[in-house]
Amino acid sequence: MCGIVGYVGHREVVPLLVDGLQKLEYRGYDSAGVVVVRDGELETVRAEGKLERLKESLTGHSLAGSHGLGHTRWATHGPPLERNAHPIVDSKNRIALIHNGIIENFLAIKHRLQEAGWSFTSDTDTEVIANLISSLLDEGDLRSAVRQTCRQLEGMYAFAAVSQSTREIVVARRGPPLLLGLGEGEHFLASDPAALLAYTRQVIFLENGDVARLTADGYEITNLDGSALERTVQRLNWDPVQIEKGGYKHFMLKEIHEQPQALQDTLAARVDFELARVGFEHFSIPVEELAAVRRIHLLACGTSWHAALVGKFMLEELARIPVEVDYGSEYRYRDPIVDESVLAIGVSQSGETADTLAAMEIARERGARLVAICNVVGSQATRFSDGTIYTHAGPEIGVASTKAFTTQLEALYLLGLFLRQARGGDLEHDLLEALAHVPQAVAEALEQEKHIAQIGRRYHRVSDFLYLGRGINYPIALEGALKLKEISYIHAEGYPAGEMKHGPIALIDDDLPVVAIATGDRVAEKVRSNMQQVKARDGKVIAVTDRDPADLEGVADEVIPVPRVPHLLQPIVNVIPMQLLAYYVGVRRGCDVDQPRNLAKSVTVE
Ligand code: AGP
Repeated sequence: MCGIVGYVGHREVVPLLVDGLQKLEYRGYDSAGVVVVRDGELETVRAEGKLERLKESLTGHSLAGSHGLGHTRWATHGPPLERNAHPIVDSKNRIALIHNGIIENFLAIKHRLQEAGWSFTSDTDTEVIANLISSLLDEGDLRSAVRQTCRQLEGMYAFAAVSQSTREIVVARRGPPLLLGLGEGEHFLASDPAALLAYTRQVIFLENGDVARLTADGYEITNLDGSALERTVQRLNWDPVQIEKGGYKHFMLKEIHEQPQALQDTLAARVDFELARVGFEHFSIPVEELAAVRRIHLLACGTSWHAALVGKFMLEELARIPVEVDYGSEYRYRDPIVDESVLAIGVSQSGETADTLAAMEIARERGARLVAICNVVGSQATRFSDGTIYTHAGPEIGVASTKAFTTQLEALYLLGLFLRQARGGDLEHDLLEALAHVPQAVAEALEQEKHIAQIGRRYHRVSDFLYLGRGINYPIALEGALKLKEISYIHAEGYPAGEMKHGPIALIDDDLPVVAIATGDRVAEKVRSNMQQVKARDGKVIAVTDRDPADLEGVADEVIPVPRVPHLLQPIVNVIPMQLLAYYVGVRRGCDVDQPRNLAKSVTVE
């Protein structure tokens, strides 16, 4: 996850930038850099690796000044090399830029700028922003160039720009967090309050679509059209634990909101959009062995097992390899048919789940090659696997798995592409394009939070819930039910919508809310008729849908809209309302949503 720090005022800027970046180190990164604006010059120092390397580089430079930017980068486009580190300077040396996000249409803009004579020295999408802003500088000031640039960008961004000719910082946000820090004769910028608390507790959290201009003496915020905006100044009286929770009431809510960033970081540097290639950094299974794989066994427990059920759809469609999905606790005691043609994949957030590890061992003993999809570096599952695909969700503190789940889905999709590529298949551009859009789609789904909190208030006293989904969304019905029961203690069941008439329909009455996942084309009509069956028996329907709510007139009591993405990735978006609904019902019932009764974050025993 990238870290952003900026300052304009009266202090020496380099120590302040490095100090701020150090407060953000926990977020993970693989390169770092600073830029100081002094006497009409943009002086940048950047280094691969950790901040220690940057500090070593800085000792050789007398970077004095009181106006600049600092950045820690988690590579998304292009390897973590010095040339790809931020700040990135445009090819006319007029501005320097730091950025967090994914620009989905960067290639088209890059080609247009190249035809207009702009040159590029990095593999990053960030350099496209820098050159685009610089190309617009002749038409107006830095802030208007930034606003015009934002109108052309598709995807998620939080960026800050400085120019060599003015004493200001201009920032823009759509997706990743960005906040301003207010001081006397000085102003600050950061991607996380932790970087600012040593200097100011007066902050403004920018909202999506905001463009802000910072000088030593003040700040102005506008929208993309240039209309002035008023944003609330907040006083951060956070204690250390609240700082750790990023200001959220619970770790679970913080981690739900971290998902756009976690998805971006899991995608990081694994997709070369220009060459349409996918690669993993810890994968030692030779391509020819992957080409020889005839079956895949997905082994997991709990929420990770739900991810594996979705993964079956992804891997079978993308790589055309038959997939079996097993609970670790079941696989380890049945007599599985395994040989060298099997690729066994353990899916586990912790990498320490006893049942999953045992199943992986059995698969390995019987000849399978072993892969782990895991969120914890160096955990057991990663140590005895032939290849590991790390999800970069960051530490998941809440017992209920949220960001680990969605990044597992993304990792399984990436694995499907990787296997398709290893077996000679083409990676069509739309398969990759879809992936780049998912973080933004999840950010849009999160915008329904207030609406979902109200639904949670309306239904928090019921004693049972039924969740219905079809096809690739049946596992999301299971996951929605698990989330609810594990943090609110309400009994909930997930069911294939087509199975309702074979039994569960007997449960329907006006005390039983039914959450129906009605997204996509083909099956949504079928789910719609299931919803009609529920309504005909006085049941309450809460619909999650990418369709026009008017289409569900009369068959849904509540409608939660989600953005539409390609069907293999739709589960990542559809689970967001499930997580939020479970959270708000649990909170309303006074449950300890971060540490639910009887549960452990990692079940390391049978
Ligand atoms: C999910 O919300 C639960 N905390 C639990 O089902 C969990 O997914 C399961 O124990 C597997 O854990 P793992 O992913 O660390 O292997």
